[in-house]
Amino acid sequence: MIDLIKSRHSYRGSFQPQPVPRADLIKILEAGLAAPSGCNKQTTSLIAVDDPQVLAQIWDVMTAPISHTAPALIAVLAQKIVSYRDKTYYMQDYSAAIENMLLAIKALGYESCWVEGQVTEDPDMVQAINGILHIPADYHLVCLLPVGIATDEVKLVAKKPFEERAWFNGFMKKD
Ligand SMILES: Cc1cc2nc3c(=O)[nH]c(=O)nc-3n(C[C@H](O)[C@H](O)[C@H](O)COP(=O)(O)O)c2cc1C
Repeated sequence: MIDLIKSRHSYRGSFQPQPVPRADLIKILEAGLAAPSGCNKQTTSLIAVDDPQVLAQIWDVMTAPISHTAPALIAVLAQKIVSYRDKTYYMQDYSAAIENMLLAIKALGYESCWVEGQVTEDPDMVQAINGILHIPADYHLVCLLPVGIATDEVKLVAKKPFEERAWFNGFMKKD
């Protein structure tokens, strides 16, 4: 499990054309739905897209320079509701669901990338995808995860050294 976590990296290259079997997509969706959520409100919903015509419509409106060759993608939706007193937890909820799915995607031999910034920064694109996927007004598209077998090498980004970000028994303490 730890090796799987460490082997996950964002992939932004091209994908092989073969479809992702429904059985695998279901496993990925189930991994997302299994994530914890604040007060168990389960504010995250998911739409897997594997219909080439629907995918083509989405790639058509996607201005972001993300590989348009993925044979499947998962749209992550959030219900921005109050979970406890005046607190909303939908961001934490969908983040946990996304990480679970990224790990499931990797475990099944596929690659992906958490594409949120380049989706939510463009309200027109979000609106267009909402229309294509018939997403109701009280569900918010927050992220797209392309899914497929990579054709290119996965590029690794540098992570800060352990000692700069993690300690024992106190901030910056080493023992
Ligand atoms: C909240 C969030 C939003 C992100 N949005 C995008 C995005 O819009 N486009 C993209 O290519 N990567 C996006 N990423 C992926 C990050 O760029 C990536 O995780 C980071 O560079 C570290 O690389 P790694 O995933 O290989 O560890 C996003 C990640 C997070 C957590």
